[in-house]
Amino acid sequence: MSSEQAAAAVVESAKKLAAYAAVDQHFPHDAKVVGIGSGSTVVYVVERIVQKKLAGEISPGVTYVPTGFQSKELIIEGGLNLGAVDRYPVIDIAFDGADEVDAELNAIKGGGACLFQEKLVAASAKKFIVVADYRKNSTTLGTQWLQGVPVEVVPLAHAKVKQDLIALGAKTAVLRLGGKAKAGPVITDNSNVIIDAHFGPIEDPLTLASAIKLLVGVVDVGLFIRMADASYFGNADGSITAKIRDGDKILVH
Ligand code: A5P
Repeated sequence: MSSEQAAAAVVESAKKLAAYAAVDQHFPHDAKVVGIGSGSTVVYVVERIVQKKLAGEISPGVTYVPTGFQSKELIIEGGLNLGAVDRYPVIDIAFDGADEVDAELNAIKGGGACLFQEKLVAASAKKFIVVADYRKNSTTLGTQWLQGVPVEVVPLAHAKVKQDLIALGAKTAVLRLGGKAKAGPVITDNSNVIIDAHFGPIEDPLTLASAIKLLVGVVDVGLFIRMADASYFGNADGSITAKIRDGDKILVH
């Protein structure tokens, strides 16, 4: 195994650790509707749910609400009941990944371009649990995830919003392109485009999120402020770090 493969295996097992711990500790015994986020870590959330359902620890009657194409496929492939957020606007709990999580449990999300639906599901959930590997565990947003804050934008507005983001203090604002897989921009599940705006360290994420959200053409911004109730990070040494909201405090285990 090359050193790159070994490093990738460590990250992969950290994702799995976080996901399994989050499901084991938070899946409500009486859950009826559960949100499933997007990305590579959430794959292990679904894996654990399927294991627990087969073991009779999770009811076969639970409905699962996806945050985009990928999570819809995960739900179907796992043999779970598929719902939709416009049919189930009240969700008992949602599990999702993140690109960076700060000391206050604020998160940057949208690295996988599922931004708007992820925020809709998180906002519809009574409890929102983040799962990630140790690279996402941060104190200040914009210090670990340097690709920028994802901003989902109506395509016609992309040039104007880019200008507006620079005026708000972004050091860079880049329309996300499909690379070899797609000539032109990445198109989200909601037929929008993504602009990645890097602001450097974000000291006041609520103010920044509010300002971006007010820009004409912005559908939503990948700053999830005060939404998460807990975040689980798998560490490289096989341990888990948990940040749990407890009233106004964040407890770290
Ligand atoms: C999808 O748009 C994102 O918000 C993902 O949840 C986020 O990028 C984390 O993805 P990984 O679990 O693949 O790191």
